[in-house]
Amino acid sequence: MWIEAPELYWEDCQVTMARLAAAERQIDLAVTSPPYMVEQPYETGMEWIEYQDLLWNTYVGLDTILKPGGYFVINFGDQCRGKQLLGTQVPSTIPMSVTHWDCGRGVGWELQATRIWRKKRRGMGIPFVCNHYPRPVYDYEHIWTWRKCAETHHEVVRNRAMSQWGVLEFEGDLPKKRHVAAFPLGLPEWAIQVYSDIGNLVYDPFMGSGTTGFAALTLERRFIGSEIDESLREQVENFLA
Ligand SMILES: C[S@@+](CC[C@H](N)C(=O)[O-])C[C@H]1O[C@@H](n2cnc3c(N)ncnc32)[C@H](O)[C@@H]1O
Repeated sequence: MWIEAPELYWEDCQVTMARLAAAERQIDLAVTSPPYMVEQPYETGMEWIEYQDLLWNTYVGLDTILKPGGYFVINFGDQCRGKQLLGTQVPSTIPMSVTHWDCGRGVGWELQATRIWRKKRRGMGIPFVCNHYPRPVYDYEHIWTWRKCAETHHEVVRNRAMSQWGVLEFEGDLPKKRHVAAFPLGLPEWAIQVYSDIGNLVYDPFMGSGTTGFAALTLERRFIGSEIDESLREQVENFLA
């Protein structure tokens, strides 16, 4: 199947989502990993309230462009800067599931599945430590699947073998370190195969190094991505060419 070139927007994803909504364009599936508020360069100085707004606005924006019955697969960790944010004595965790639950239910979606994926210690370069300074570090992260409600609840299980497990592990990855917070290629590959069909339109609002785009194009889906850090432009354009 011939697949169109990816559409890449080097801007705040809010701008892209408003642009797509104005053009009455709809996506079949969104797959992303948002900022985690762990003092990565792209989050420096962000206040907790700004972070909550970023997540809420992402759900609201996606609700304007996701097809009814379409899915949003979000990868997130519980690894915020709890010590600084909460003023606790030791590095502390913030269960981000609470925020994601409020956001998804707030826009009226159904939480179709919760899963976790187990990180490889070797790959992350750090052992499991729950009291690590300045934040706890876990050897797993969450993968939640939201579904935008449709008139009928006719759910198509695309890949029964891939969708049956709640704890996932992703084998292998692209050889080169592409981004400080890149997720393994297997993660978007898994999400795209379970929640979309060939030719569908996949969107990643926090595209980073373009891992979702690479998986989408390889699996014969169309792709739109947004990334606020334009210094990644050449690398991503080459990667997805
Ligand atoms: C966790 S990383 C995503 C990594 C990506 N999954 C990958 O595999 O490379 C989050 C990305 O979101 C970008 N970002 C932060 N705020 C943004 C915004 N408002 N709109 C678009 N991108 C944003 C950051 O620059 C960062 O590259």
